[in-house]
Amino acid sequence: MISLDLKNIFSVGTTHGLAKKDLATSQKELVHLINAMHTRGQKFYSIVDDTAVLKQVQEFATRMRGKYQHIVVIGIGGSALGTICIHQALTHLYDNERTTRLHPTLHVLDNVDPTLYGEIEDVIDIKKTLFIVVSKSGNTAEALGPLLYFQQKVKQAKKNVQNHFITITHIGNGTLSELAEKEGIEQIEHGPVGGRFAVLSTVGLIPAALVGIDIKKLLAGAQDMRDIFLTPDAKTNLPYQIAKTQYALNRKGKSIAVMMPYAQKLLSFADWYRQLLAESIGKEVNDAGETVHTGITPVRALGTTDQHSQAQLYNEGPNDKLLMFMHVKKLHKTLRFPTLYTHHPKLGYLQGASMNDLMDAEREGTTAALTKRKRPNLTITIDTLDAYHLGALFLLFEGATALLGEMYGINAFNQPGVELAKKLTVTNLAKKRNK
Ligand code: PA5
Repeated sequence: MISLDLKNIFSVGTTHGLAKKDLATSQKELVHLINAMHTRGQKFYSIVDDTAVLKQVQEFATRMRGKYQHIVVIGIGGSALGTICIHQALTHLYDNERTTRLHPTLHVLDNVDPTLYGEIEDVIDIKKTLFIVVSKSGNTAEALGPLLYFQQKVKQAKKNVQNHFITITHIGNGTLSELAEKEGIEQIEHGPVGGRFAVLSTVGLIPAALVGIDIKKLLAGAQDMRDIFLTPDAKTNLPYQIAKTQYALNRKGKSIAVMMPYAQKLLSFADWYRQLLAESIGKEVNDAGETVHTGITPVRALGTTDQHSQAQLYNEGPNDKLLMFMHVKKLHKTLRFPTLYTHHPKLGYLQGASMNDLMDAEREGTTAALTKRKRPNLTITIDTLDAYHLGALFLLFEGATALLGEMYGINAFNQPGVELAKKLTVTNLAKKRNK
């Protein structure tokens, strides 16, 4: 279902790339890494088998059908990025602009820039909106502030907050749950998995189901990749091969990982992955308490768009990157350029060519040029972009990131650096208000 092409990691030579032996004989290591993750108490992948959650989400979506014109998700980081990604990847690219629609529009507000809130009100009717407030901790300002803001708006519109809000949180813990309890707002359990690993929990599944996405297929793809991830066979374990490549190249000074899908609908996938890699691997101390400052800086790019923005840097700038291309064999449309100027000397290559072939030729040209310049790059190919393959991609990179964390001997599942900033935000705002 998903293939990984590492040939350009090998063919750039061992100064900048890897030798086959660097990846081949690591069976023992793989078993050790999986065990280490389990010893850490991490089974993030088990949410994809939770049939009770699947049933709960499906029933919720059925109950909500036809009730709202707009869904507004409020949350940040892992509470938002997965939903943005699923929406972009699995619905029409201009989903919210379509006039004939079978499901509500979906907006995700993952910032506290007042412009976002002021201007969303221009395009939604609050009386016909369901607000989904997502926060695992239940204490994040970016979730609580907008909740208060829209709660007031709903009341001003003379509507019941119970009919216009739900929360996805750790029920019984945190301020969000406390407020929901007080206001009689329905609460849906967030589940045990941390934010950036939670896309396939209620966090991502509830909004996805409300906009008609086949969540069963999403989970089916994830389950199949979960099986690959847990199989202690270094030759078939794709998450392991990605992690191993990243780790080995990082040791050779490749401190940046560029994810560059050649698919417009995967742009937000690269955003989702950016958080996953940055927050999971960027750590000050390892399990032994030593100061290590691990991390690989993720960069999001898009083919072909960023060929005309970033590719110059990737080709001629510092050779400090691993480039990860994503290729979708069968894009959603097949289009052909018309034959309008048959004898034009500069248009011959486009006349009658398919846009799909152009996209492929551009990707192949880009990877070949980088390889020639000894820039290590890999390509992940999926047959098509549907719920099944997206589910598998989520698990592929979650698995890879979990194993990468174990290679460094760090905890990929916490975010102490973020927590400090969250605390300081609260004290800073208090100080500003007292001025
Ligand atoms: O991955 C994570 O855990 C974080 O990015 C969180 O999702 C983010 O900080 C939001 O936290 P919360 O869901 O508790 O509001």
